[in-house]
Amino acid sequence: MSYLTTTLILLVSFVGFSAVFAEDPYHFFTWRVSYGTISPLGKPQKVIMINNQFPGPVINCSSNNNIVINVFNNLDEPFLFTWNGIQHRKNSWMDGMPGTNCPILPGKNWTYHWQPKDQVGSYFYFPSIGMQKAAGGFGPMRIHSRNLIPVPYFPAAEEFDVVVHDWYADGHKELQKILDGGRAITRPDAVLMNGKTGDEDDLKPMFNVEAGKTYIFRVCNVGLKASLNFRIQSHNMTLVEMEGSHTVQNTYNSIDVHVGQCFTVMVDANQDPSDYFVVASTRFLKEVQTATGIMRYKGSKGRPASSVLPGAPSGWAWSLNQWRSFRWNLTASAARPNPQGSFHYGQINITRTIKLVNLRVVVGGKVRYALNGVSHTDPDTPLKLAEYFNVSKVFEYNLIGDEPPKNTEAGKIAPNVLSAEFRTFIEIVFENPEKSIQVYHLDGYSFFPAGMGPGKWTPESRKTYNNLDTVSRHTVQVYQNSWTAILLTFDNAGMWNLRSGSWDRNYLGQQLYISVVSPARSLRDEYNMPEISMRCGKVVGLPMPPSYSPV
Ligand SMILES: *[C@@H]1O[C@H](CO)[C@@H](O)[C@H](O)[C@H]1NC(C)=O
Ligand SMILES: *[C@@H]1O[C@H](CO)[C@@H](O)[C@H](O)[C@H]1NC(C)=O
Ligand SMILES: *[C@@H]1O[C@H](CO)[C@@H](O)[C@H](O)[C@H]1NC(C)=O
Ligand SMILES: *[C@@H]1O[C@H](CO)[C@@H](O)[C@H](O)[C@H]1NC(C)=O
Ligand SMILES: *[C@@H]1O[C@H](CO)[C@@H](O)[C@H](O)[C@H]1NC(C)=O
Ligand SMILES: *[C@@H]1O[C@H](CO)[C@@H](O)[C@H](O)[C@H]1NC(C)=O
Repeated sequence: MSYLTTTLILLVSFVGFSAVFAEDPYHFFTWRVSYGTISPLGKPQKVIMINNQFPGPVINCSSNNNIVINVFNNLDEPFLFTWNGIQHRKNSWMDGMPGTNCPILPGKNWTYHWQPKDQVGSYFYFPSIGMQKAAGGFGPMRIHSRNLIPVPYFPAAEEFDVVVHDWYADGHKELQKILDGGRAITRPDAVLMNGKTGDEDDLKPMFNVEAGKTYIFRVCNVGLKASLNFRIQSHNMTLVEMEGSHTVQNTYNSIDVHVGQCFTVMVDANQDPSDYFVVASTRFLKEVQTATGIMRYKGSKGRPASSVLPGAPSGWAWSLNQWRSFRWNLTASAARPNPQGSFHYGQINITRTIKLVNLRVVVGGKVRYALNGVSHTDPDTPLKLAEYFNVSKVFEYNLIGDEPPKNTEAGKIAPNVLSAEFRTFIEIVFENPEKSIQVYHLDGYSFFPAGMGPGKWTPESRKTYNNLDTVSRHTVQVYQNSWTAILLTFDNAGMWNLRSGSWDRNYLGQQLYISVVSPARSLRDEYNMPEISMRCGKVVGLPMPPSYSPV
């Protein structure tokens, strides 16, 4: 055998080898979504369960794994899951928003297939249609770092998911009726932690620990509106990760978590063997609601070390200051081997500034919520499909401008779609002239919340930006009468929802979609629509558009 042939054979077998192993591991799930009954407030309530679980099952995986979930909709209404914070690179087909996917109809099933590409951290999923999120259907997701890519902390003895949220005595359909009728959803009736208030008589432990060991708590606020404060009696928490970024490892007694946000902390079990309360309570509301869960040490006699719950901070300033204390660890790797800080976001020129002002508007006698005067409504044909099939008269691009209109009170109800040029670096300023906190989430991306401040934003406000090490994340708060500015590169082609996390406002239009189209129409930038995608509205029966080009 000549040298060349041997080399060729080696080369061929090497290519074959890598092709087999390049495929990332698969995780298959079958999820049956149905109504069920729980009684967290003492009275039976109809909730949305997944495989008879509330909250739903955990998705535990590593970066890049293939997640395949066959979802059976056993409800009496259309249903979709969305995967909060999962970027779906090139693949908004799996984002599961009403603007990207046709709903799974009652009695039908549909299969999601996605990969958390180059992502690590704590996340959650939830139902994206109407007010269904108020009834459950949510659950935690853990994305571990691939082997060989070090995380900047030691493995823990165990990991705990903590799903916390405000909770209402009314079901999702009642809440929808209240909002459709022009009335407001007022304060929550309770806070739940992993489905419980903690008021139950049986003091069953929620988290079991052993003295001398260290544990990871993955905390997500999956609620409708209420900001929460999370804390553990007599224990400090070391923040290690926040929405996919590794943070500087500061120690906190308590951490504010706004709707849609997640964080990961390490907790040393360094106290006397006893029971300790894990607490989540509402912030910024007159009447505080609290949920507790018991963390029980091995050898505990089953009694709390103290019946006095640790107090929550009060006021906005504390929360803003805590946000300022969160820092990106520039030398730690995230999901890729290179250090996070090698992306110098502060040195990139801003090509466009979009200022979005939220306002309550009244259209046709009905209360709605708008961004720059347009209150979003989902058309029957998902925006992404209308764009892909080039179907006209579903929506118009750029009804709103980059500046809010002078007369912001005049609202208009329409699909709200902004287009962003592929790969441009854009600044989005959220201005909140209202008295309640706002929270915004962007699908498909993580962004740099460079600044926050009181009053109105001006170009001068840029002088206060953290251009070095703000924590890159997917959800950010805007305090009352304040602004928040975020920076990001629009390098993920697709149709992406930018939404208020306050679900009543979201339901009534405080959201929009950002269309990012690669002019190359290339598979390098975006996948073709999968053959299995559901069709509805104006794209039923249309022939598939030609494939994007292979390079
Ligand atoms: C979760 O996934 C990680 C990484 O894929 C794995 O090491 C770990 O054993 C899993 N944990 C559970 C409880 O299945
Ligand atoms: C529905 O579920 C069946 C298995 O029960 C599966 O074979 C089929 O592919 C699923 N359909 C879709 C559209 O995911
Ligand atoms: C950042 O991460 C690196 C790498 O794991 C670690 O050595 C360093 O101590 C961390 N720095 C801070 C300030 O947390
Ligand atoms: C928590 O941290 C503070 C400040 O670092 C320290 O004074 C306190 O002793 C710590 N508490 C526990 C229970 O470790
Ligand atoms: C950014 O803009 C400045 C001034 O307009 C210009 O001098 C500089 O070269 C630009 N930097 C990059 C990286 O494009
Ligand atoms: C989309 O359709 C319009 C007519 O409705 C046509 O002018 C345009 O060229 C089409 N665009 C693409 C990308 O096919």
